[in-house]
Amino acid sequence: MKQKNLIKKYDKQVTMYEKNRENPNMAAWRRKIINSAYGNILEVGIGVGANFSHYNKEKVHVTGVDFSAEMIKSAKKAASRYQIDTELIHADLDDLDFSPESFDCIVSTLTLCSYPDPVNTLNKFNSWCKNDGKILLLEHGLSHNPFWSLTLKAIDPIYSRIAGCHCNRNIQKIVENSKLEVELMERHWGGILYLIWAKPGLKPKETV
Ligand SMILES: C[S@@+](CC[C@H](N)C(=O)[O-])C[C@H]1O[C@@H](n2cnc3c(N)ncnc32)[C@H](O)[C@@H]1O
Repeated sequence: MKQKNLIKKYDKQVTMYEKNRENPNMAAWRRKIINSAYGNILEVGIGVGANFSHYNKEKVHVTGVDFSAEMIKSAKKAASRYQIDTELIHADLDDLDFSPESFDCIVSTLTLCSYPDPVNTLNKFNSWCKNDGKILLLEHGLSHNPFWSLTLKAIDPIYSRIAGCHCNRNIQKIVENSKLEVELMERHWGGILYLIWAKPGLKPKETV
């Protein structure tokens, strides 16, 4: 899908995301992964700020990125409501380049399903995250049940047209193919939901 159309689709989904911001089915997983976040954080595809209520507001500064202006507007309101020290950037993540080792933590919840080249995106996280920092992922993708995986692959063309994101991604493989070093991976809901605690893997020395 063209980037312009994808942005329009996400712009239109703001009300649905706002209604689901406190969704109790997701809240426990969000809490579990966000509990490990600290310091200077980059949250990619921040949406309406569904993770704000789970951050320790005393310990974080969150730089949030989203290419949907409507999502950014909503996240701004949520940041003030949850009193999260935030800087919001309205941009396509693919157009951004932060200096190496800019962040203590990089957080992505339900965004790897959207990027055109998710391995490349994870490799950017690898560079932007401090060597002793954390990369925290809560994602959806293929199940470890072959029947469910086949179904998700079959419905992806329709699903992606409706939702904008893909339901047929093998998140485990994507992460394994990136430079990240996985410390812990949990899979829930038949393996469809992935919680991943990772750290940056080996980085080539910057050349001057
Ligand atoms: C499925 S929603 C998830 C929102 C939020 N992270 C959450 O957990 O509820 C994906 C979000 O990523 C944003 N997004 C997708 N691709 C992006 C890109 N290339 N650059 C910036 N934002 C992007 C969308 O606008 C949307 O807000």
